[in-house]
Amino acid sequence: MSTQPIIITGPFRQLLSMDNLPLKGSLKDSQLEILEEAGIVYQNGKILEIGLFKDLCTKFSSANTEVQLMDSDLIVLPGFIDPHTHLCWAGSRENDYALRLEGKSYSDIAKSGGGIWDTVTKTRNATDAELKRLLDLRASRQLANGITTCEVKSGYALSLEGEIRLLEIIRTINEEHLVDLIPTCLAAHIKPKDFEGGSSAYLEFLTKNFLPEIKRKSLSNRIDIFVDEGAFGIQEAEKYLAEAKIYGFDLVIHGEQFTSGGVDLAVRMGAKSVDHLEVIDAKAIAQLAASGVVAVALPGASIGLGCQFAPARKLLDAGCCLAIGSDWNPGSAPMGDLLIQTAILGTFEKLTNAEQLSAITFRAAHALNLNDRAILKRGYIADFIGFPGRNYKEILYQQGMLKPTRIWKRGVQKKL
Ligand code: NIG
Ligand code: FE
Repeated sequence: MSTQPIIITGPFRQLLSMDNLPLKGSLKDSQLEILEEAGIVYQNGKILEIGLFKDLCTKFSSANTEVQLMDSDLIVLPGFIDPHTHLCWAGSRENDYALRLEGKSYSDIAKSGGGIWDTVTKTRNATDAELKRLLDLRASRQLANGITTCEVKSGYALSLEGEIRLLEIIRTINEEHLVDLIPTCLAAHIKPKDFEGGSSAYLEFLTKNFLPEIKRKSLSNRIDIFVDEGAFGIQEAEKYLAEAKIYGFDLVIHGEQFTSGGVDLAVRMGAKSVDHLEVIDAKAIAQLAASGVVAVALPGASIGLGCQFAPARKLLDAGCCLAIGSDWNPGSAPMGDLLIQTAILGTFEKLTNAEQLSAITFRAAHALNLNDRAILKRGYIADFIGFPGRNYKEILYQQGMLKPTRIWKRGVQKKL
């Protein structure tokens, strides 16, 4: 890479570095490192230094330096990380939503022809161009909301060629778009209706044909499975995940959304995260807290389905690492706004600013096994976002309606 100029950007009224905070457990706002009248120095997409803007200007005054002056009050913090989405789909499920408003349950709707299978049919029928257009659009909306890294699952094709097609589309948009898209293989979303055989046979089919192909094509290093009623059982999931582990994949579990067992499985298998947790009980909370598995709450799914939130306060008080994802998908979580959902979960669960912001920055990065971003610190990727204002507490106070006006992705600045 050719050496680019050193850029000094600032002054920022407040800079939240999200540095020096523990990975697990509860946090007080007083633990946040806040720099006033701050600047960030970066080069080749990486942070060189943060500090007082005027000191940085003195220290880095050389011919190869450019100063990027801010002309209004900004609060700057690391770009947000959305650790759980299903952004690669076609079609809509507004009819499912209307049926839920009439009192039908998510699983009843799935049994009567709606649900995940409906989106699978629509996604299978969509062209590559259409799926790329939709994913690009959603990635742009994420970026406008301050998300600079976004996990994206496959899982709406559920055939060998179809799932590979989705992962290839995610790869293409990742290459073309400013946002980093982290692909996760969710071929084990549900057993496809056109697969001849039971759910165990389907997982065996995936193990034999799918895992080696994903590995060979380097399409993803993460394997997810939906463990719940109407999806996959604990024992068959364990067998599948054990095989995926042998291949070297990071493991992720959709667990404890409707029934228990997912946390125990995640801990035993050494998964990176277990996501949903709406029905987690005290014993599983303690088990999760004693493990290295990240608890990912998905308030967007609780809002979309009208059910309880994951007990985020209890998870943090027990000592868990709590991340929050949008779960943006056409069925359970159609809203797709991580900051609004974080703020809503935060007000109901009594999460401090520090806990909420950690859950969508470095703790979410940890769920994705990424240790090169989401903290403003020397050597880290220069992904940061600026919100208008003078006090960082404005961000969650406005419950997601305050939007970033500037975004830096690997040092590339975008004004919004
Ligand atoms: O995370 N729980 C499983 N999968 C998704 C929902 C997918 C859908 O309904 O289309 C979720 O909520
Ligand atoms: Fe999900």
